[in-house]
Amino acid sequence: MAKTEDKATNKENDSSWKDVIYNPRTGELLGRTASSWALILLFYLVFYCFLAGMFALTMWVMLLTLDDNVPRYRDRVPHPGLVIRPSPLDIKVNKSDPQSNAVYIKQLESFLQRYNDTEQERNEECNPGEYFLQDDTEENTKKVCRFKRGSLRSCSGLSDTSFGYSDGKPCILLKMNRIIGLKPRGDPYINCTVKRDSQIEIQYFPSKGRIDKMYFPYYGKKAHENYVQPLVAVKLLLNKEDYNNELAVECRVEGCDIRNNDERDKFLGRVTFRITVVE
Ligand SMILES: *[C@@H]1O[C@H](CO)[C@@H](O)[C@H](O)[C@H]1NC(C)=O
Ligand SMILES: *[C@@H]1O[C@H](CO)[C@@H](O)[C@H](O)[C@H]1NC(C)=O
Ligand SMILES: *[C@@H]1O[C@H](CO)[C@@H](O)[C@H](O)[C@H]1NC(C)=O
Repeated sequence: MAKTEDKATNKENDSSWKDVIYNPRTGELLGRTASSWALILLFYLVFYCFLAGMFALTMWVMLLTLDDNVPRYRDRVPHPGLVIRPSPLDIKVNKSDPQSNAVYIKQLESFLQRYNDTEQERNEECNPGEYFLQDDTEENTKKVCRFKRGSLRSCSGLSDTSFGYSDGKPCILLKMNRIIGLKPRGDPYINCTVKRDSQIEIQYFPSKGRIDKMYFPYYGKKAHENYVQPLVAVKLLLNKEDYNNELAVECRVEGCDIRNNDERDKFLGRVTFRITVVE
């Protein structure tokens, strides 16, 4: 008797366990009716559509407020690095070997193409000593201040096509990296010194190594497409006694608030290069 009872309860348990998956009496699947399931699915569908919509909307608003020309989140204008042309920081000049100098001359010549008079005639004649501030215009293209290579005089490669390399008085061109929005306070100029007991005479073009404020600010690659950085050329007036010695030359931007003594970054506002001239 007890045995048959056992069997009956067993059977009941079996069927109730199966009912959890599908109960044919109530038509419930996993404890819910079809309409209940449909409601849940509908709820999640609407919920996720809403989330996707929110995401797309915030993304769109965010992109609308982005300006193509100015990096958006920036707490301050960074300081520019100083770079030289020709680019190697170890320059070896053989006064009597035109072939070895040709590499440098070629680099200088191609670098100065953008500063050709014909190119620069198209640009504005700006007011020296003043920032060239420009409002946003409809077409959003900014004008460019003229910098003619002729102002580099004997380092322009025009009168002396070897830039002084063939007579042992080489020219080095310096420029500051482009920084959007940079407006140096003061009157920036380049000052180069040779680390040696006896000083070496250095000529600067434009005079006194001045970097005019009218070339600032720079408005960015897109708006300021034809912008050219102002250059300073230094001509090392070496003598016979200076030949065959490696000279360490340090150039700094001075006279303004551009940082030139950062301990961690020795290219901020300054550059050091070595130059050796042999006969
Ligand atoms: C410089 O160039 C001349 C001519 O090619 C050559 O005779 C001389 O050895 C070179 N000097 C050095 C130090 O390389
Ligand atoms: C720039 O000027 C140099 C020298 O006058 C000339 O050889 C060169 O072709 C010019 N380049 C351009 C792009 O006008
Ligand atoms: C250039 O730098 C040297 C060394 O720091 C300094 O003695 C000299 O006065 C500076 N020249 C100018 C014009 O600032």
